[in-house]
Amino acid sequence: MEQSAKDRSRAVGLETGRWRKVTLSDDDRLLDRAFDLGVEKCLRDARTLGAFPHVTRNGRWLISEHGRWTAGFFVGMLWLVSMVAKDSDAADWASSWAKRLAFRASDRSTHDMGFLFEPSFVRGYRATGHEGFRDVAIQAARSLASRFHAQGRFIPAWSPEEDPSYAALAIVDTIMNVPILIWAGRESGDETLLRVGVETALTIRDQHVREDGATYHVVDHAPKSGAITRKGTHQGAFEGSCWTRGQAWAVYGFTKVGVMLKQAELLETARRLADYFLARLGDAVLPPWDFDRHAKGEPRDSAAGSIAASGLIELGRATGEDAYTKAGRRIAVGLARTCIYFETPDTHGLLRHGSVDVPRRSGIDESIIYGDHYFMEAIMKLRRPAFWEQLGCVEY
Ligand code: GLY
Repeated sequence: MEQSAKDRSRAVGLETGRWRKVTLSDDDRLLDRAFDLGVEKCLRDARTLGAFPHVTRNGRWLISEHGRWTAGFFVGMLWLVSMVAKDSDAADWASSWAKRLAFRASDRSTHDMGFLFEPSFVRGYRATGHEGFRDVAIQAARSLASRFHAQGRFIPAWSPEEDPSYAALAIVDTIMNVPILIWAGRESGDETLLRVGVETALTIRDQHVREDGATYHVVDHAPKSGAITRKGTHQGAFEGSCWTRGQAWAVYGFTKVGVMLKQAELLETARRLADYFLARLGDAVLPPWDFDRHAKGEPRDSAAGSIAASGLIELGRATGEDAYTKAGRRIAVGLARTCIYFETPDTHGLLRHGSVDVPRRSGIDESIIYGDHYFMEAIMKLRRPAFWEQLGCVEY
């Protein structure tokens, strides 16, 4: 029977002496197109931007030489691109942009060291085997561990120099900064890093994750004793709401930490977080910015969607439960369908409709570099898992 255009097959290689044919679905083709556009944009940005991209305004990236908390995502995307576009100069660009970020490895003023140094330097080490990447990533992990509050057993997110109320404020996002501590502890043999990582993860589980699987964005503490003084939010709608991106960080972070520590209990936490995320998302693909602010006209957050998609695909692999992989794929396909304007490839940013900080009216309905990064990651996991295998800091 003659194949329709829809069922068009392509030959992918010789196997047992015969051509094996793989049929691409429309969704696969859409994901591949979105990824290819991401590759093109990323390489163009590497060549043309004067500093690290963060969020768009009027279709152009706002950039920062300091790199804020997000520079690692741009470098990380370049490493992803280097795997698939081997004949391009992506690996050289990834190395040279990584070098511009290296000075931040001694930054002790923020919890963001995993966001900054895992996609850039741990991944750079995985991609190239160069020890220089490994050493900088270990230094970054040491800077992060130096922030550990020994009595309260948490890592404060931000610096009191920025705002005195940040002295002992923990946020759920920190779970995504735990993997670099575990990785660096193992790489360097420094058990303190490993211990700080494990304790931080357990505290986040005990203090931020609620009975129903939702999360508190913020848990504040007394600066000296570390005792809890408040549970609430910073970027969410109100103290008891569930900020969607925080929930997505938690899904992905607990999955990674659970796999790295081979801890079924932490994977069980990741499951509860994921079940909550998926129940609140329902049939939608573009999440509301806060699960308790989903009325028509409220901002959405595609970045929460892409982080959750990549995390859910990882959770599917970690637990062997295909339902999570399917849910991650459904979100990734939905984002590709609703948030990418293939017809305007010259604008900056890949995924539209991200929201940085709605309460402060900052970066609403824009492209955000971490939204793009986790979207590319999710597609790589789905479409080119062998490449992801070489890059992820989670090893099975
Ligand atoms: N980690 C900060 C944010 O997700 O906005």
